[in-house]
Amino acid sequence: MTSDDSAPDGGTTGEEQGGASDDGGVALDPWGSATVGDYRNLFEEFGIEEFDEIIDRVPDPHYLMRRGVIFGHRGYDAVADAMRKGDEVAALSGFMPTGDPHIGHKLVFDELIYHQEHGADTYGLIADLEAHSARGMTWAEIDEHARDYLLSLIALGFDAEAGTLYRQSTNRELQDLAFELGAKARFAEFEGIYGFDGGTSVSHMQSVVTQMADILYPQLVDGPKPTVIPVGPDQDPHVRFSRDIAARMRYFRVTEAFASFELTDAQRRVVAVAYDDREAYAADPETPRCEEAAEYLRNARGDDASDVGAADEVVDATIGKLANGGKEPLRPRLRFLDRNATDGAFEALIDAVPGEKRVFEAHVDAFEMDRAAAEELAREVELDHDGYGFVAPSSIYHRFMTGLTGGKMSSSDPASHISLLDDPEDGYDKVKAATTGGRETAEKQRELGGRADECPVYELYAYLLAGDDDEFAEAVYEECVGGERLCGDCKEQAAGLMREFLAEHQEKREEAEELLADLDVDLDVDASRRGVAPSAEE
Ligand code: TRP
Ligand code: SF4
Repeated sequence: MTSDDSAPDGGTTGEEQGGASDDGGVALDPWGSATVGDYRNLFEEFGIEEFDEIIDRVPDPHYLMRRGVIFGHRGYDAVADAMRKGDEVAALSGFMPTGDPHIGHKLVFDELIYHQEHGADTYGLIADLEAHSARGMTWAEIDEHARDYLLSLIALGFDAEAGTLYRQSTNRELQDLAFELGAKARFAEFEGIYGFDGGTSVSHMQSVVTQMADILYPQLVDGPKPTVIPVGPDQDPHVRFSRDIAARMRYFRVTEAFASFELTDAQRRVVAVAYDDREAYAADPETPRCEEAAEYLRNARGDDASDVGAADEVVDATIGKLANGGKEPLRPRLRFLDRNATDGAFEALIDAVPGEKRVFEAHVDAFEMDRAAAEELAREVELDHDGYGFVAPSSIYHRFMTGLTGGKMSSSDPASHISLLDDPEDGYDKVKAATTGGRETAEKQRELGGRADECPVYELYAYLLAGDDDEFAEAVYEECVGGERLCGDCKEQAAGLMREFLAEHQEKREEAEELLADLDVDLDVDASRRGVAPSAEE
């Protein structure tokens, strides 16, 4: 663990972090600094998908989506499709109560509220175990901040009666789930993904399995469903890990197969080519034999005209397996592999497979099912036999806001951010004092235009102040780069809007007080906790 836990916003060196790049460009470190050098690297290096490519499938996309603030995702198409169809979906995010909620957190609050308004079962949680174990916050501090996060979330429009708010430390079912998930997580993965080592505290590790449980919690409460986790890209390691663990918890894995032996995904594609071409080589095209397909692939490889579309090693390995298969017929089928099923569940699955089937020691092959039906059956049997049946959780990622002083927005530097609790006049002043993308003189600005793309003030408009009004956001941009807008007036306008926003938000927070008091969220954990402050990790 390189991040020094006494310095929440301390830089991260990256080298030891999972998935860090050699050039030091991107390191996705949940406990490091919230900055990203180049968002494009996240697609290439980490396999985060581009939000743009699926925005058309999203019903009534939020302005943060429309303006590219939400830039990436993992598996969000499943959530978007389900939302559009009116199927069940869930949304969940968590907040570490280490300081005041600020305008960066507002992005996540808004994302949760958007999903709630579009029918999602929505959860907001206070990551108090993480704040205590990874940031060394005392329980008294945590209580105070927890309250502030929840008030702001409600004030911004979260419906606390329809949704769920909880804290990690008092949620017993969550802890039970964390314990179960821990059985499928290895210390070596903690080392690889998070850079944990012998100096990492066990409580910090426990907070990680707790986060895995958070991410899967909506499915525990109310059954398997697509779930979106709106977060910053620094949380992507957690999302990936939770997707892995969700799969590892499944009783069965459904794959496609052609014969009794196992194939990798790449090998399966090669066999599919051979199977599709069976008319060309099989003595009886109804029953192509493995050895015939092997022979066909051997010939095809020597012949440039028919490319099987795979690397030589893959084709070689496939030919080897097919040759071993001898006279066994090639027949497409769906295979249920037993990963964690109890004997009872495996028996029940075998009984439930319709039509022709073949039973092996640790798998069963079904010849008359399609993929979707097979997946559904696997999940049904699992749920009937005390399994969770988790669907892989999805995520969406937003850009980090630039600090008002030009660097990163940091909770430890009050001038760099605007807290949702800032006095409206202070908010006004901070915007007036912000760095801009303007030119040295008004004259140059008129001539060359401002640099809205590098301007923290423009970001304030796009991320917050313009709200849902795209025309307004665009007008600011166009006027800026066209040289019609000068920074003084522009900041004056932004500062005024910020003052208004804060005043209104704080009024709504007051109204939310009563609502919060009626909810059964324990805001006085400190009273029932003892212990010592966690020591900084070595
Ligand atoms: N680790 C997150 C943070 O640092 C907080 C968190 C805890 C969280 N559990 C979560 C975020 C589940 C999303 C989903 O802010
Ligand atoms: Fe930024 Fe406004 Fe100046 Fe443009 S005019 S650079 S948006 S402050």
